[in-house]
Amino acid sequence: MSSLQNSETSLAPVRVGIVGIGTVGGGTLKLLTENAAEIERRLGRALQITRLGARRDPKGIDISGYAVERDPMAVARATDVDILVETIGGTTVARELVLLALQHGKHVVTANKALIAEHGEELLAAAAEQKVSLVFEASVAGGIPIIRALREGLAANSIDWLAGIINGTSNYILSAMQQESKAFAPTLKEAQDLGYAEADPTFDVEGIDAAHKLCILASCAFGVPLDFQALSIEGISNITLEDIQYADELGYTIKHLGIAKRTDAGIDLRVHPTLVPKANLLASVNGVMNSVLVQGNAVGPTFYTGAGAGSLPTASSVVGDIIEVARGFGETERNSTPSLGFTELKPQALCSAEESTSSFYLRMTLTDEIGALAGITSTLAEFGISVEAMLQKEPRMADGEALATLIVLTHEVSKGAVDKALAKIKDMAVVRSDVTVMRMEQFQS
Ligand code: HSE
Repeated sequence: MSSLQNSETSLAPVRVGIVGIGTVGGGTLKLLTENAAEIERRLGRALQITRLGARRDPKGIDISGYAVERDPMAVARATDVDILVETIGGTTVARELVLLALQHGKHVVTANKALIAEHGEELLAAAAEQKVSLVFEASVAGGIPIIRALREGLAANSIDWLAGIINGTSNYILSAMQQESKAFAPTLKEAQDLGYAEADPTFDVEGIDAAHKLCILASCAFGVPLDFQALSIEGISNITLEDIQYADELGYTIKHLGIAKRTDAGIDLRVHPTLVPKANLLASVNGVMNSVLVQGNAVGPTFYTGAGAGSLPTASSVVGDIIEVARGFGETERNSTPSLGFTELKPQALCSAEESTSSFYLRMTLTDEIGALAGITSTLAEFGISVEAMLQKEPRMADGEALATLIVLTHEVSKGAVDKALAKIKDMAVVRSDVTVMRMEQFQS
């Protein structure tokens, strides 16, 4: 048996404090305990949990053997903590806690996407000033090391675009609707019971959680400042079984995606339900799994997949970050790759919502009369919108008149043109419903 390290020179344990012993913090505690020997062999020194921060005893997690602080700030001040793990979530106490820990010279590992997307630059500046690390692999796509892939493995590339399923709860709900025709509300409840959903699940179903993650990915991909306000955001709460079935008939699956693309009009950042061709890899990613497709100018398309939420998968990324930080110990000044992969974040032109282009799915109900369909197609043509495919269902009687559902798939066009055409279409006498609009993406590389 070979020994890489003489026991006489063995290093003191790295001391870890975990604040927030819920789904992710509890998983981190479990993983650090169960895989301690393997982790020590990788790192060359032990990771020792010296403090836990928990306002009250967590349900189902035994913390009796640890020094438990009821005040989270006490962990940030503790002299026996080298790395503070923040898993309380939210942006108020978490921001104060992380700033305090950094000011006390502690490295910080966090799983908190809202915190990084909304306060990341302030916190990274505080970390740089103290010459400590602030890392957050677990903040995006749970167990998938996507930040590390962008920051390290793909660092040679100029990234053309990335697109990902980055909210496990939304994917869990859409998959259940698609595969089992399950209703929205009970499926969301299941995702909550499984520990996938945010404390406030509207963050999941209204796209805010995915937008926080896309904001971080965009900075890692393009070196742009973290700018959550720049994103256009739409969630899955208006998706119906009807749309899922029509998309299916046309050869598509509806997925909730975060998309970041370089375009001639600037960087396009958006989060929304998207029709994806069934043959695309993203279409077959189901349940709580997340996936990210990244197109680099040298490597071409690359695909990353894994559990996007849940206790141990997310803890896998948290503990990976703890190990990364601990590996850098002993350096007087941290010289590993900056957390977002760029030494400087530079603003770049952003594509406006109107200029953003894609194909579109439009669904509406028309009266079954001569010229109704022609009126729609000629209005689309008036605004430069080319039809790629159309599906009209047999008319049905409702309130004494025959109504038909029409689905139109367009070729690529700007959202501005679609909005203008729809403003006119909605006022047409033959249109008897709201128009459902969804983006479609082909992801040709
Ligand atoms: N609520 C998040 C999700 C947890 O469903 O993806 C992981 O960030």
